[in-house]
Amino acid sequence: MSDKKRVAILVSGGGSNMVSLVDSMLNDADHPGQPCLVLSNNADAGGLTKAAARGVATAVVDHRPFGKDREAFEVELVKPLLEARADVVCLAGFMRVLTAGFVRQFEGRMLNIHPSLLPKYKGLHTHARALEAGDERHGCTVHEVTPLLDDGPILGQAEVPVLPDDTPDDLAARVLVQEHRLYPAVLARYLRGEHDILRLN
Ligand code: GRF
Repeated sequence: MSDKKRVAILVSGGGSNMVSLVDSMLNDADHPGQPCLVLSNNADAGGLTKAAARGVATAVVDHRPFGKDREAFEVELVKPLLEARADVVCLAGFMRVLTAGFVRQFEGRMLNIHPSLLPKYKGLHTHARALEAGDERHGCTVHEVTPLLDDGPILGQAEVPVLPDDTPDDLAARVLVQEHRLYPAVLARYLRGEHDILRLN
């Protein structure tokens, strides 16, 4: 029986952060975690194919049939997480807002990566907002998920420079490289009980 923590990862799209997390666990025999499930709200998410190619169980709970009834969607969304006996849940490009009720089931064991230097730029369009503000530094944050959106305790941040001719896409691409460094590093520390902020530059 493995004493590794079982890590479920929620994705909505390409899953590049999920790949970084899964590979960091599969490529290190001493890693405190093991991937137990990749779960998406989108049956077409590219992350599902990448997870299956790595031998990781996948599941889909489409949010669309539930309309605006977030609670009804989440009643179904939680089932595969319980069946997979997830100890920790990582949101990685998961694009649905979760209710406080859902978050409370996993509070203290749910992480998210957000493409800004929180507390700056909670919510969407973070790269365009940083450019509009004339910021010289930008980056990404891994934080614990709490009922307030993009608001939980910060566990790690990585910074990138903003260059004069950057477009939002240029900045997003530069930040994404750092996301793939930061999230695996924070997850390993978090699973070992190290919750002090990791700063990568
Ligand atoms: C990334 O920019 C991440 O910061 C945000 O979702 C985007 C796509 O992530 N949360 P991925 O490639 O699906 O992991």
